[in-house]
Amino acid sequence: MTTADDGPEPVRGPLAKCPTGIDGLDEMTNGGLPQGRPTLVCGAAGCGKTLLAMEFLVRGAVQHDEPGVFLAFEEISEELTQNVRSLGFDLDDLIARKKLEVDYIHVERSEIEETGEFDLEGLFVRLGFAIDSIGAGRVVLDTIETLFSGLSDASILRSEIRRLFRWLKDKGVTAIVTGERGDGTLTRHGLEEYVSDCVILLDHRVTEQVSTRRLRIVKYRGSSHGTNEFPFLIDEDGISVIPITSAGLDHPATEERVSTGVPALDEMLGGKGYLRGSSVLVSGTAGTGKTSLAAQFADAACGRGDRCLYFSFEESPDQLLRNMRSIGLDLGRWREQDVLRIHSSRPTRFGLEMHLATTHKLIREFRPDVVVVDPISNFLSAGTTVEAESMLVRLIDMLKSRQITTLFTNLVGGGTNPEQTEEGISSIIDTWLLLRDSETEGERIASVYILKSRGMKHSKRVRGFRLTDHGVELPEAAPALPSG
Ligand SMILES: Nc1ncnc2c1ncn2[C@@H]1O[C@H](COP(=O)(O)OP(=O)(O)OP(=O)(O)O)[C@@H](O)[C@H]1O
Ligand SMILES: [Mg+2]
Repeated sequence: MTTADDGPEPVRGPLAKCPTGIDGLDEMTNGGLPQGRPTLVCGAAGCGKTLLAMEFLVRGAVQHDEPGVFLAFEEISEELTQNVRSLGFDLDDLIARKKLEVDYIHVERSEIEETGEFDLEGLFVRLGFAIDSIGAGRVVLDTIETLFSGLSDASILRSEIRRLFRWLKDKGVTAIVTGERGDGTLTRHGLEEYVSDCVILLDHRVTEQVSTRRLRIVKYRGSSHGTNEFPFLIDEDGISVIPITSAGLDHPATEERVSTGVPALDEMLGGKGYLRGSSVLVSGTAGTGKTSLAAQFADAACGRGDRCLYFSFEESPDQLLRNMRSIGLDLGRWREQDVLRIHSSRPTRFGLEMHLATTHKLIREFRPDVVVVDPISNFLSAGTTVEAESMLVRLIDMLKSRQITTLFTNLVGGGTNPEQTEEGISSIIDTWLLLRDSETEGERIASVYILKSRGMKHSKRVRGFRLTDHGVELPEAAPALPSG
């Protein structure tokens, strides 16, 4: 048994990339995994290694017409087959069409120990045959732990692992080798990472019943990559990684205006409404009409042909539609035409990271021109203030870079001064409307004013704010404000 030569790599041009087809992953790796080389994907049990590897093969076969071989050392679970089926991919069909080959090798630990020998030759023959028989360009070995479980001699182990990676490279296949995460090292052997061009670490944490999955590119030889950890989702569409790099301050800026849906409010905002691509905050105490103002904006957007994604955290889609009918808005028709999508969920259930990830995914899928988040107070209570604010900044960065006009509502307590409680997010808001409620002569009267609106001349007046059967109205006469 010889140890493969580990001489210096020949100098190459820019590294060729093999697209995984996995949402977001190709984006953060600038095109995919190293073409024709092995990548190590490691993480603890249940973190999604096998699913990621299988999705890599299935998407390769379906989207890039590149057949793949999946070599399992543990039996393929029914769960995995089911998972992949729910992605709309039928493993059996892919196998029948010679787009996929799934092979299961039972590694008998005692056998290896008895003979005191370990030889990969048998594996190479079998894998080589599978690769050649379907012309595979992609290979998965799942997991390296099981494959080498019988080896205790560190130096043999080391040379065998090197030999495996060398063989895969020589074969020219783009491979994913999965491994478990060991104590202090990425994998139990602490070796694989030195022989791999690309190492991806998956992590699954559950804190306070909130589950967060993260993906990190630990190393990518010869390529730039994001070093941050990125949250990822596993759902009915498979894996999606959310590249949440802060887009920074280079958003495009237009002069285009979009209507608020309330003519009198458009008038107050320089006669034309909000700036397209800007962020709007509507804050007010309970029941003042925040949702109504948001719905007017959504209705106007759909009416002019924009697409609107409405995150409703306190009302279900049906509730929202019913409540808005009460002020004469028929949002149902927009929903039927699929220019309006209402997404209801409670952020607290998943934690902020996951929530941002879901939001990101929906935006990518639906491609809205306009987004409503009603209300953000739910975020602010889902994590610490700092977390929530940093998440909102990232969300707004992403929305702005896509020229999406966003309206946030925020519920503020009656006694507090909203200008103070919302200090943290005010800097990332372009237009800020305040709804307030005051009691005069036994009657509650609502009013609205523009606290700020960047990039335009706007009214400084306090106007009345009234909800009617046919929408929001702003009576000319400003009601008296409470003293203090
Ligand atoms: N046709 C109507 N005419 C007058 N007022 C109405 C009409 N329909 C609904 N309302 C009022 O609108 C109020 C709710 O408005 P909206 O849901 O926009 O407020 P909100 O600020 O979003 O409230 P919350 O703080 O609960 O989210 C109700 O309390 C109701 O009094
Ligand atoms: Mg509301």
